Amino acid sequence: MVLPLETVFNECAGTLRAHPPQRALEEACKLLRARIPAYDWVGVYVIKGRELHLAAWAGAKATQHTAIPLNTGLCGWAASTGELVNVPDVSKDRRYLSCFSETKSELVVPILVNGQPAGEIDIDSSTKAAFTRDDELFCNRLAVEMVPALRTLMKTGFTTVPPPKP
Ligand code: SME
Repeated sequence: MVLPLETVFNECAGTLRAHPPQRALEEACKLLRARIPAYDWVGVYVIKGRELHLAAWAGAKATQHTAIPLNTGLCGWAASTGELVNVPDVSKDRRYLSCFSETKSELVVPILVNGQPAGEIDIDSSTKAAFTRDDELFCNRLAVEMVPALRTLMKTGFTTVPPPKP
């Protein structure tokens, strides 16, 4: 059964409030992946210095890109401009930093704290053009729900997810 985005939003918002910050982000990633078929890999990156650091993720495979410079990839682009990136065909976008061979489209949604990019939600799909305007709005609302967790992580520090062993 495919649930309406509003139902998933309410579930995620509840989860984000129910756990300590890093665990909350992890549970939200798991939920998004479990509930929305096109969301094959879901991660949350948080800015540390001049890099994005992976704080939480859910997917079939771990990514090697657990720390991404702000001038690299779609992730770096979204974090440095503060603008959402919705790429229907990653093979045609020169900013794309390749991660999983299955990925066809990608959505990166900045998380703004005090109006400044502090992190982002990154979603990979193995379906071409998987993300609609509704997904953009939905993820923007989720990004707002993630602000309290990010504020805490920025203050207290957090453990970057370690990259998988080659
Ligand atoms: N594709 C991203 C890199 C991160 S992975 O998808 C997890 C990019 O272009 O920045």
